[in-house]
Amino acid sequence: MPEETPVIETHNLTRRFGKVAAVDGLDLSVAAGEIFGLIGPDGAGKTTTLRLLAAVMLPSAGEARILGFDTRRQAEHIRREIGYMPQKFSLYGDLTVAENLGFFADVFGVRGAERRRRVDELLGFARLTEFTKRRAAALSGGMQKKLALACTLIHAPRVIFLDEPTTGVDPISRREFWDILAGLHVQGVTLFVSTPYMDEAERCSRVGLMYEGRIVECDTPDALRQRVPGDLLAVWTADVPAARRIVRALPGVLEVQTYGDVLHVFVAEAAEAAPRLRAALAAAGIAVTEIKQTTPRVEEAFISLIQERRRTTEN
Ligand SMILES: Nc1ncnc2c1ncn2[C@@H]1O[C@H](COP(=O)(O)OP(=O)(O)O)[C@@H](O)[C@H]1O
Ligand SMILES: [Mg+2]
Repeated sequence: MPEETPVIETHNLTRRFGKVAAVDGLDLSVAAGEIFGLIGPDGAGKTTTLRLLAAVMLPSAGEARILGFDTRRQAEHIRREIGYMPQKFSLYGDLTVAENLGFFADVFGVRGAERRRRVDELLGFARLTEFTKRRAAALSGGMQKKLALACTLIHAPRVIFLDEPTTGVDPISRREFWDILAGLHVQGVTLFVSTPYMDEAERCSRVGLMYEGRIVECDTPDALRQRVPGDLLAVWTADVPAARRIVRALPGVLEVQTYGDVLHVFVAEAAEAAPRLRAALAAAGIAVTEIKQTTPRVEEAFISLIQERRRTTEN
């Protein structure tokens, strides 16, 4: 395969269920070594996309190529080459950690010295070495996810598809899991990961925001942040709801988002808007601790870009 050939490439990839287009005309290209994050709410079409790419489901229209192989005609080949961790990955609860890994090694025909080497390496990698004899059902949620990942990697795939691997996992395990993914990325593995958590976008080399079967925004986290129109002001105040009402009504304010006790205010120009905000809040008797210009996180950028899109489609 020539180096420039994308690892994942789709043209008008579409999957319908009755009248619902779960995946609607996807055009996507992912290069070797990327961590591509597919981010979107429940029902956006992430799982269907992953199934189409992993060649376990046929498209209704369009096509997908993985490592240059067609998902319709070369599905068997693709399934051997890639790693795919479904949203509901089936570990064998009654089998131990070691037995689960052994099972997947059998499935993928990994044998002998190579098998022993892979199992040891993956146990260390997933920090499960001390738990080889524990039954999978007795592991914590985070450890089960790591074991599922280890099983997915048993045949040393160069491309892996992970469907919501961190959903329902505690924040510390989530971070650990992403550290493991970063380790794979460093080894040159191409990763395609879906997640409902926008904060995980920061750990991807590129992200696509999926909404109603389409990727509505797709870029690097930095580029997405820069595409947000205007500047962002963070406003710390004791009375967030009241401050929000006042700030929203001010001219030059594009949008207001609330994060706990901080208001994030998108304005046309920070230098000009900050004093105006301060004055308006003071006049209303609302105490302000601090107003400071800040860079949007990808999460905020996405919300802002989607609202921008809604405004333009409604008008
Ligand atoms: N096997 C199926 N049969 C019928 N509808 C489905 C099926 N799988 C998914 N859908 C529908 O397709 C849409 C996208 O679902 P899904 O791909 O699971 O989204 P996500 O993974 O982002 O939550 C939803 O409206 C869902 O109800
Ligand atoms: Mg899903």
